[in-house]
Amino acid sequence: MRIDIITALPSLLQGPFSDSILKRAIDNGLAEVHLHDLRNYGSGKHRQIDDYQFGGGAGMVMMIEPIETVINELKSQRTYDEVIYMTPDGEVFNQSMANSLSLKGNLIILCGHYKGIDERVRELLITKEISIGDYVLSGGELAAAVVSDAIIRLIPGVLNNETSALSDSFQDDLLAPPVYTRPAEYEDLKVPEILLSGNFGAIDKWRHEQAEKRTAKRRPDIWNKKHKTDE
Ligand code: ADE
Repeated sequence: MRIDIITALPSLLQGPFSDSILKRAIDNGLAEVHLHDLRNYGSGKHRQIDDYQFGGGAGMVMMIEPIETVINELKSQRTYDEVIYMTPDGEVFNQSMANSLSLKGNLIILCGHYKGIDERVRELLITKEISIGDYVLSGGELAAAVVSDAIIRLIPGVLNNETSALSDSFQDDLLAPPVYTRPAEYEDLKVPEILLSGNFGAIDKWRHEQAEKRTAKRRPDIWNKKHKTDE
């Protein structure tokens, strides 16, 4: 999988890909992430990438030409499955979107800034618009990092134990059950007896029940939807 991220603030995105699981995935050749500084495609001496909005109003709007130039340059080199725009008015990101994006070969992610991007970028160049939740960030960079992380960790071989992505919260429409490590007793709090029993059938059953209880209590929206679908 290859992800090309177009941003006016590439330094904001360097951190998330230079540590831990994402770094290992990149070092092992399982994922490629390329950052493209939009400023390099800006016009004139000042490499302009934004301008005042027609009709008046506060906030600058990102211009179409620099964005189109970088996207066309990338598209001339390979075929892309999606050109994604990170925006609070996009489709809200969830695990099933992460699952399907993790099966793609090449993705472009465009990070918005300022007041937004010229609407014609969305009409002409964008194939998918994603929000990471109902709140407004200063730009799309952190959202792009969130989406990239959720996708890359699902690529086979990225996690040491492949089953650990399958047992994540939200796979199966269930939150993950509680987990414990040593000590078996901390102050008055004991690890549930069943986890020390060595009876793995019973442990699996307990974990599933706990996941169901937790989902019903904390996320009745997911729980009710799951039950409607299962019926
Ligand atoms: N850009 C600003 N806010 C955002 C959000 N909530 N999701 C995706 N991109 C954004």
